[in-house]
Amino acid sequence: MSKPDIIVPRVMRDVVMRGLAEHFNVHKPYEAADPFAVMAELSQTIRGAAVLGQKVDAAFLDQFPNLEIVANFGVGYDNIDAHDCSARGIMVTNTPDVLTDEVADTAIGLLIMTVRELSAAERWVRDGSWKAKGAFPLSKATLSGRKLGVLGLGRIGKAIAKRAEAFGLEIHYHGRSKQKGIAFPYHATLLDLATACDTLMIVAPGGEDTHHIVNAEVLKALGPSGIVINIGRGTVVDEAALAEALADGTIHAAGLDVFEHEPNVPQALLDLENVVVLPHVGSASVHTRDAMGQLVVDNLVSWFRSGRAVTSVPETPQKS
Ligand code: GLV
Repeated sequence: MSKPDIIVPRVMRDVVMRGLAEHFNVHKPYEAADPFAVMAELSQTIRGAAVLGQKVDAAFLDQFPNLEIVANFGVGYDNIDAHDCSARGIMVTNTPDVLTDEVADTAIGLLIMTVRELSAAERWVRDGSWKAKGAFPLSKATLSGRKLGVLGLGRIGKAIAKRAEAFGLEIHYHGRSKQKGIAFPYHATLLDLATACDTLMIVAPGGEDTHHIVNAEVLKALGPSGIVINIGRGTVVDEAALAEALADGTIHAAGLDVFEHEPNVPQALLDLENVVVLPHVGSASVHTRDAMGQLVVDNLVSWFRSGRAVTSVPETPQKS
């Protein structure tokens, strides 16, 4: 039987490229002088796509009328119009679970870095200030006694909450609905959550529903000892409002792994001392990225073998 034709619009990790090559005719338009011409030529042939940050919108889907599945590298899939895929009967998969612990560990690391000013403390050693000026100034904040509001208590949010509980933090949460079997206090609105807490852990996905929901009003509710950590998506935060709140003392500090227009980070944030910035490394270990890559391959292989995806997204549920 001939191998199904798969498109990989952008190069992906070795584990993905090797795995796909074993099972599929893999098309890599990025290697061609004119990628758009290649995509047009392949229009009728392509049955699957493996994507990494690639925008999968109506224009993309229109190009490939015989597309059956889009396998996303990453748990967040705001790059994909999953509702449109659902309407067209196209399966969408992502890479949950295999990255949960890595992202939760990074979130806690970023929280502590931010609260205790650890990146500034490291710079103090490297730039000779320790020798020249003496001890690093005491951090104004402490982790002790903080009330952590988790925005988005999904798999990753729960893993973060579990770790934070072990650190003695009081956990609250907000999401679309109150969850059964969860003892943490639920807040029906984000504003209520921010009012009840002094630390906001953003784990929410991107997309229209969450666009800029962390705004000036929410930041004000967190208060002057407030700390914002974002490990979800940059689009959830109004970055201009955040920079202003950090500059004028409305909140104390922020630790950000994600930004609205990556890899561009607003200068207004970079200019501030009370911000820790990371280059979207939540899941970025070789171990975890390989596991995510393998799951991309497994989803495509399983789909073309049995018509079943391994990890379908809620908008395109696997039919039993
Ligand atoms: C990373 O941001 C992911 O969505 O997996």
